[in-house]
Amino acid sequence: MILLALETSCDETSAAVVRDGMVLSNATSSQIQLHAEYGGVVPELAAREHLRNLIPVVQTALRDAGVQPGQLDAVAATQGPGLPMALLVGFKAAQAVAFALRKPFVGINHHEAHLYSPWISTSKVLPASCRQNNSVCQQDAGSTLGFVDFGSFQPNVSLIVSGGHTMLVLVESELKHRVLGSTVDDAAGECFDKTGKLMGLPYPAGPEIDRLAEQGNPKTFDFPRPLLNDPGDDFSFSGLKTSVRYFLRDHPGILDDAQRVRDLCASIQAAIVEVLVKKTIRAAKRNHVRCVTASGGVACNRALRRELVRACEREGFMLQLAEKSLCTDNAAMIGILAERKFVQQIPASTFDEEIKPGWVLA
Ligand code: KG4
Ligand code: ZN
Repeated sequence: MILLALETSCDETSAAVVRDGMVLSNATSSQIQLHAEYGGVVPELAAREHLRNLIPVVQTALRDAGVQPGQLDAVAATQGPGLPMALLVGFKAAQAVAFALRKPFVGINHHEAHLYSPWISTSKVLPASCRQNNSVCQQDAGSTLGFVDFGSFQPNVSLIVSGGHTMLVLVESELKHRVLGSTVDDAAGECFDKTGKLMGLPYPAGPEIDRLAEQGNPKTFDFPRPLLNDPGDDFSFSGLKTSVRYFLRDHPGILDDAQRVRDLCASIQAAIVEVLVKKTIRAAKRNHVRCVTASGGVACNRALRRELVRACEREGFMLQLAEKSLCTDNAAMIGILAERKFVQQIPASTFDEEIKPGWVLA
């Protein structure tokens, strides 16, 4: 099966071609620069930019994969959740392609797709099935090809952590998931971005805080760890943001001292990371899984990755971190999940089915 997938839920226009568990191509156009001057994603601009970028991105994905539109067996797109107007661009375009080619279409839940991104590898080592006699695989072996390593797949607790969401999901088996908890207010990425904005850092501040924190002392300032000792699996980050605001009010001039800024970044980051890691490990233990996975833009954060590695080694968990290029929103994960749904014969959405932004899972 050769499948085209589109993802336009927020500020990334992405198209991927997937074939038999292989990601043949994954072309993404990011809108970060466009939204930077507004300090956040502007939904109307995002939708217009998707309209502009979608066709070139799809053409790139097809060309990189060496696939003609007529070779496609199915089409998929993110159905929700996301920015409604942005979602509509990719969703309706994908439906139109499916309709024109008379091929099945499936709408995919964005969060559910994130659960599978940690299992996509872009390493050049091909799985045995591909090494045998597959001309498309051989042709693509030197490029950005990826495959899904479901060989080592096991029940896991998955941390999805981005600018829009922070959630813990129990993945009991393939396509069987249960949301354990999510943020009751701001997402972790939002906390990075908003505290960074208070410090005068450019949007998105997450990567910048990550960079500055590498040379800072995380123990310099003590910020709250919201809901850390709460027995549930929900998160809350708005209180941390507020305490940074008061801290800056009470320490005028601190932003003029470059080393203090690095220490501040490291201290804020340490608070966010500690909450994410401890709650993830606790959920994994309570649910008796032996594997932890993580994805979403914030999962690019170096301290978070390091601490997850440390905690999982200490507690004896297998850790499956999404590769950095696949942490942020991408169509590869949409395509991989869509293919699993087709393989398991989960019925495709009808052409007329409208976008359901809710969490629709087995
Ligand atoms: O998944 P994503 O690209 O988009 C959505 O929000 O859905 O995530 C973007 C978020 C932003 O809040 C950004 O600041 C954060 O991920 N982020 C990071 C890092 N890279 C991206 N946060 C902390 N450290 C990073 N290295
Ligand atoms: Zn996402």
